[in-house]
Amino acid sequence: MKVLVIGGGAREHALCRSLSLDSDVNALYCAPGNAGIAEVAELRPVDPLDGEAVARLATELHADLVVVGPEAPLVAGVADAVRAVGIPVFGPSGEAAQLEGSKAFAKDVMASAGVPTARSYVCTTPEEVDEALDAFGAPYVVKDDGLAAGKGVVVTDDRAAARAHALGCDRVVIEEFLDGPEVSLFAITDGVTVLPLQPAQDFKRALDGDAGPNTGGMGAYSPLPWADPKLVDEVMASVLQPTVDELRRRGTPFSGLLYAGLAITSRGVRVIEFNARFGDPETQVVLARLRTPLAGVLLNSANGTLDTLPPLSWREDAAVTVVIASHNYPETPRTGDPITGLAEVAEQDAPYAYVLHAGTRTEGDAVVSAGGRVLSVTATGSDLAEARDRAYKAVARIGLDGSQYRTDIAAKAAESR
Ligand code: AMP
Ligand code: GLY
Repeated sequence: MKVLVIGGGAREHALCRSLSLDSDVNALYCAPGNAGIAEVAELRPVDPLDGEAVARLATELHADLVVVGPEAPLVAGVADAVRAVGIPVFGPSGEAAQLEGSKAFAKDVMASAGVPTARSYVCTTPEEVDEALDAFGAPYVVKDDGLAAGKGVVVTDDRAAARAHALGCDRVVIEEFLDGPEVSLFAITDGVTVLPLQPAQDFKRALDGDAGPNTGGMGAYSPLPWADPKLVDEVMASVLQPTVDELRRRGTPFSGLLYAGLAITSRGVRVIEFNARFGDPETQVVLARLRTPLAGVLLNSANGTLDTLPPLSWREDAAVTVVIASHNYPETPRTGDPITGLAEVAEQDAPYAYVLHAGTRTEGDAVVSAGGRVLSVTATGSDLAEARDRAYKAVARIGLDGSQYRTDIAAKAAESR
């Protein structure tokens, strides 16, 4: 099978890595890719937001499957453009991707489907904003309605800061604060059948101890030793299947990856957000644990035949990923800094630890930073403590001037064992 992956972050590197290890895949392309993906896939230049260009490239390459990684192309309808030329695509239509593209749309779908989530108001005027802030009180949760790469959400006790963020958005969702640990649960679906993956936990804040601003995600681990073993079944029944059924009922069936960001509150599981694609960095740890070859699973989603697949098989291993971000991330990240130590990790830590590239590019013989999140150092082990240890040993070999990473990824979960 010939597979074309669209995107160029650590999630796409993780997808390409798994696809490159799948014996059903005999040609693997990534567009536009990055310096690390170039080691496992053939890179092609393309504007990932240009559906016609992506469809043309897929046709030229005789791709049997196109996998669209990031949310922006999905919301822009890139999957529709590829489907229109008759090539199977893993990823939802532009309309179905509104589940991620508009928080207000997601809230409406959840209300119709009876899916538990935070109570919320959609506000467009300063008066509505003030009323909503007063109705819920602190801590205030204020979300830009549109796509914001994980950075459109402000959670604060400071009413003035909450109000200022709200007034900076055209349309804003203000909602009840949800207390309790967060879990990311992904499901692969073809619009009818829903196949849950293993849960993971992401670290959204920039600094140790969950301090600092929200980011796209600074690290992740799986499995969750502290979680109720019934969690996946419960979320399947109360969240994932009802959401997929509701979208089908509305005439906008959702196929691809449905990402449920959940809060485990004292009153039960609540949806914090939906995403319409694999999460980054959770994908790095979830795919590290998936034993079933990936290409067939994605192709069956694209073709509407997930019901024919046997259950997914998982490794007993634990996985941890630590994100190395550039100087000044998430504000105005500095780019163009040389990265060292990649060869040392490949020589000394493989196969248990490896580096997935996010924002990187080659400059002559050097690999340099090209984005806010630069690398996702991933490791597996017999338990979280071992995986964590291996991941941080590899992190220590990497050099990137001014870079930052959290030192507490999976630390609490590893101790609770
Ligand atoms: P989102 O983009 O909706 O996932 O929000 C980003 C992060 O903000 C989440 O991962 C949570 O840590 C936090 N957050 C979002 N909504 C809430 C909420 N209702 N209560 C508490 N924290 C929230
Ligand atoms: N890790 C959060 C996200 O992918 O949105």
